[in-house]
Amino acid sequence: MKPNALYEGLVRPLLFSLDPETAHHLALRVLRVASRLPFALAAFHRFRPPEKPKTLFGLTFPNPIGLAAGFDKNGVAIPAWAALGFGFVEIGTVTAKAQPGNPRPRIFRYPEQEALINRLGFNNDGAEIVAARLRKLRENGRWPQIPVGINIGKSKITPIENAADDYLHSFRLLHEFADYIVLNVSSPNTPGLRSLQEHDALEQLLRAIRDENQTTRKPILLKIAPDVSLSDLDQIIATCEANEIAGIIATNTTLDHSAIPASLDQAGGLSGRPLREKSTELIRAITARSRLPVIASGGIVDAASAREKLEAGAQLLQVYTGYIYRGPGLLREIAENL
Ligand SMILES: Cc1cc2nc3c(=O)[nH]c(=O)nc-3n(C[C@H](O)[C@H](O)[C@H](O)COP(=O)(O)O)c2cc1C
Repeated sequence: MKPNALYEGLVRPLLFSLDPETAHHLALRVLRVASRLPFALAAFHRFRPPEKPKTLFGLTFPNPIGLAAGFDKNGVAIPAWAALGFGFVEIGTVTAKAQPGNPRPRIFRYPEQEALINRLGFNNDGAEIVAARLRKLRENGRWPQIPVGINIGKSKITPIENAADDYLHSFRLLHEFADYIVLNVSSPNTPGLRSLQEHDALEQLLRAIRDENQTTRKPILLKIAPDVSLSDLDQIIATCEANEIAGIIATNTTLDHSAIPASLDQAGGLSGRPLREKSTELIRAITARSRLPVIASGGIVDAASAREKLEAGAQLLQVYTGYIYRGPGLLREIAENL
């Protein structure tokens, strides 16, 4: 049986018979256990795409397709992601303090649209516990060969005017494990977070991280929303360039739910196929204005949407919702058709 047929014929129907978050935890638990079992990791190698090495930020990526933030928020299954053939993995969003996130249900599937809406609200173990987990992984010799990015965000209880301190706390605890760090200022599910994309707040945050990073010298990326206006974008790019930001991740989920029938709509961020165009347009706008490298995230669900992102000027790709719908065969399908 081909990997895609196995997933779409058997695994996906099983997972989709469960509530989305239960399915997510089940899948993650399997991958977490597999991460400790060499024979399981070896079995995953059948999904690996051909090597297409790419160098960016001084890092070598075995292929350009990464796992987007939010799938493995706590970094529990990193060896499994590498074995499945991802060219890189981004864990997080991690916040300074552990937090439960919003009440359930908080993830919703839209199979007809190949989309999801989520309002998780940064449920995660907190920077300290994640750092301890990553240290153990490294000490046990199970650290993978692929670049690992760590995406950080603001704890819900921290007032927005103290956001920089919250990010700094996580940065200090986590930077030693990260090949790159992402400042997430674009999730729609933490009240006020997106206001950090506005000029003064962004300048304050980026400067604080830049100063802290003088000795650590990690590539720092900014993850932005697809809903920013072009004048916002001009300011964001200028602030990034003035503060040694290494690249932009475009984009996070959208608040534009026009693709979803009103009767089925839910509060939260929309991802998957309906986000594709909006996200690609923002990539085009960034690459027309700046030489900052872009990592594309948003609606990559097949080879055509992946190619579209590269043609728009993106250097690397990330998948999330597409992986839920298409499964581990998606990486090969994309890599073989780039
Ligand atoms: C359930 C879910 C949780 C997510 N959690 C995070 C997160 O914690 N941090 C983040 O930066 N992005 C998060 N995202 C956004 C994804 O990383 C990605 O940017 C977005 O879904 C668009 O890509 P896609 O269309 O391939 O899903 C999440 C997305 C989903 C669907």
